[in-house]
Amino acid sequence: MRLCLKHAKVFTNDGFVVKDLFVDRGRIVSSSSFDSFKDGRIVDCTNCYILPGLVDVHVHLREPGFLYKEDIESGTKAAAAGGYSVVCSMPNVNPVPDCMENLNVQLEAIKEKAVVKVIPYGSISKGRVGRGELSSMEEMSRYVAGYSDDGCGVQSEDVMKQAMVEAKRLDKIIVAHCEDESELKAGGCIHDGMFARSHGYVGINSASEYKQVMRDLELVKEIGCKYHVCHVSTKESVEAIRKAKLDGVKVTCETCPHYLIYTEEDLEEDGKWKMNPPLRSKEDRKALIEGILDGTIDCLVTDHAPHSEEEKNKGLDGSAFGIVGLETAFASMYTNLVLRGVMPLEKLVEVMCLNPRRIFEIEGPRSLDVGEIADLCVVNLEKEWVVDPSQFYSKGKSTLFEGKKLQGRVVLNVVDGTIVYEEGMKECKN
Ligand code: DOR
Repeated sequence: MRLCLKHAKVFTNDGFVVKDLFVDRGRIVSSSSFDSFKDGRIVDCTNCYILPGLVDVHVHLREPGFLYKEDIESGTKAAAAGGYSVVCSMPNVNPVPDCMENLNVQLEAIKEKAVVKVIPYGSISKGRVGRGELSSMEEMSRYVAGYSDDGCGVQSEDVMKQAMVEAKRLDKIIVAHCEDESELKAGGCIHDGMFARSHGYVGINSASEYKQVMRDLELVKEIGCKYHVCHVSTKESVEAIRKAKLDGVKVTCETCPHYLIYTEEDLEEDGKWKMNPPLRSKEDRKALIEGILDGTIDCLVTDHAPHSEEEKNKGLDGSAFGIVGLETAFASMYTNLVLRGVMPLEKLVEVMCLNPRRIFEIEGPRSLDVGEIADLCVVNLEKEWVVDPSQFYSKGKSTLFEGKKLQGRVVLNVVDGTIVYEEGMKECKN
């Protein structure tokens, strides 16, 4: 498919530049190769911005095993609508991708149904149980984004150490959900803070996260493998990672839109406020924003974690942990951080696209120049819209943004030169 995207502000190494972008056979090409433009589309992108396609290194697509929550098709359609070219899928599926045979089940489904690029994770431990034996890391290494036991922390320090040694040998990254279960009380469902105390809920303390972050940082210091911390939510984790980076430790990390917008002070007695890690205090939120701004936090991910309505309608105590995010991430961050002057649009592109590509060595453009792979999304930054989960492509409908007015909308998404999502685009005559 040949495409000409006219009159947009295009993200390049020199900042945003107003120009026309030409796409042919999956690549960005020069305008001169379009002298005889045939069999293509000329799309009017006036007043829109074109960004390199977004990359989310933390999503749950639930296939194989939990297709009632999400599947590769619905999850990647949600990603396409969110402006993503690439998503990395977490291994809490069934069968657990802990060997090539199991991973193949997911790879087959991806080949058959994905509308954006999906790179799965392999698990760290066999069965993703956080202890015992390592997964068959080597045989999966060509096909995985890295290794993670996401959903649970790796409780055994020895298993984490062995995994880091093996990851270093294979030159792959360990992606750690940090949660020290010895710190957890049965039934913990929200942050161990003022809302939990005043409403009689069992809390999840900050130490359950930062103690394991600190344990792992010591291991990385010793072993020197690539290591990335999942969904950082506490100020102590941010500080520990900042200090480790200053000491030259090879660590990167991510946080999610909800931790940057909401705190425990926003909690209501509704399952949509329940995710793991939980929304923390105002001070934690402030530290996360500072962490993004000073480069301690490298990536913004959704932790898109769809569940059925049944699983989410049981209040804070009884609901499953997790909310969806792919279809609201860009607009929620643009509205709450960029428009409020917390960070420029370029920084959002850095943490939602450039850094994840660099850290995870994912191919695709870092600047929309001739010769680059045509993975890009067009956003209309003027457009306001009200979040209506019933319109989501995702099967998961639990979101903190239901009914909220957001500004900034993905209107076109192109992956490998093919349009995978569009909304209201007009053809252009010249
Ligand atoms: O809230 C969460 N949901 N946190 C996790 O770590 C796992 C995820 C899920 O898979 O539902």
